[in-house]
Amino acid sequence: MSSIELDHVSKLYANGAYGVRDVDLRIEDGEFVIFLGPSGCGKSTTLRMIAGLESISSGDLRIGGHSVNNVAPRDRNVAVVFQSYALYPHMSVRQNMGFGLKMRGVTAGVIDDKIKAAASLLGLTPYLDRKPAALSGGQRQRVALGRAIVRDPVAFLLDEPLSNLDAQLRAEMRLELVKLHRRLNRTIVHVTHDQVEAMTMGDRICIMRDGRMIQIGKPLEVYADPVDTFVARFLATPPMNLIPARLHGEGGALTVTADGLAITVPDQHRAAYAPAAGREVIFGIRPEDLHETDAPGRERLDVTVVAIEALGVENILIGQIGREKPVEIAARLSRHFTAPLGAVVPLYVDARPMHLFDPETTRALPRPSVGLVKA
Ligand SMILES: Nc1ncnc2c1ncn2[C@@H]1O[C@H](COP(=O)(O)OP(=O)(O)OP(=O)(O)O)[C@@H](O)[C@H]1O
Ligand SMILES: [Mg+2]
Repeated sequence: MSSIELDHVSKLYANGAYGVRDVDLRIEDGEFVIFLGPSGCGKSTTLRMIAGLESISSGDLRIGGHSVNNVAPRDRNVAVVFQSYALYPHMSVRQNMGFGLKMRGVTAGVIDDKIKAAASLLGLTPYLDRKPAALSGGQRQRVALGRAIVRDPVAFLLDEPLSNLDAQLRAEMRLELVKLHRRLNRTIVHVTHDQVEAMTMGDRICIMRDGRMIQIGKPLEVYADPVDTFVARFLATPPMNLIPARLHGEGGALTVTADGLAITVPDQHRAAYAPAAGREVIFGIRPEDLHETDAPGRERLDVTVVAIEALGVENILIGQIGREKPVEIAARLSRHFTAPLGAVVPLYVDARPMHLFDPETTRALPRPSVGLVKA
């Protein structure tokens, strides 16, 4: 049993600033959890508190059900892998991987067996006698992981381990880590500010902002139902379109209107949104819910073309709606979509996955979840 529980954990730094505030989280044994958030939001601080590298100012931290507030890092049996890898340059891969065990007095034969097993798992067998300087970034990353694996910890704490790698290597290592998790079946806490890593790697994402965990959930649940405009915009590129608007109620129908925009609220959301009729709202719609073609249930939206980003697999249309208070929006269209810059093109909105947010609090107005709708 090696669940990790954070029970109202806070970190108040000596300068009076909070690094982390009141984090409440239970990570199950064997779970792969992602901490995602912008720079300075408290991801590393939280990870370092779990590892014992940072003291806890208040709250309780339990590993395997036991409070570890006063347990030294080396006795917590968790392994940390840092972004910088922190390999010893004068030692070979073999020595780097075995050093920690040697310091703990593990016998040479046992160390050797563990190194061989980890090297084989990570594809490092041919490199065991090389020094880190003679390895690629991805190989060094693997050595850092190997050093953690040989310790056989109850949990791996990974602090942006992929951020020094180029895009292609990063994508490969992403998959390697997921496979490794399946094979080792150990708890992994992975810190990143990369949304693709967050969406694809973990069982759950914890989104952090200003030291707080503002949303915790399965990746697609968080994607489909963000709790506020920050999460709505943070989780994808291009982010969710957010359009300041007003909600009108008339004769039982609800309409979201703004300069250049009039969208009828779909039936399934009418009851939930009715109490907000007459109020200012922020209308949220993801770029993939704007389409080039009409279909039953879609609503027309005229957009002035500002730019078209051809990505090969799809074209991102950056457009403007409205004249007096123009708002820029993005739409994910097919790779065949073309239009001259400045042209006005009709798009068709599938409003079923729409969101409304409160402009003052930025919180989502509650509505039943519709998950990810089929186009
Ligand atoms: N030793 C310290 N003393 C005072 N404040 C600190 C200290 N270490 C970190 N902080 C502050 O705590 C907050 C959280 O820092 P943390 O390193 O956890 O952020 P992060 O989410 O890991 O960011 P990044 O993505 O840049 O690594 C930041 O505002 C940071 O400036
Ligand atoms: Mg950090």
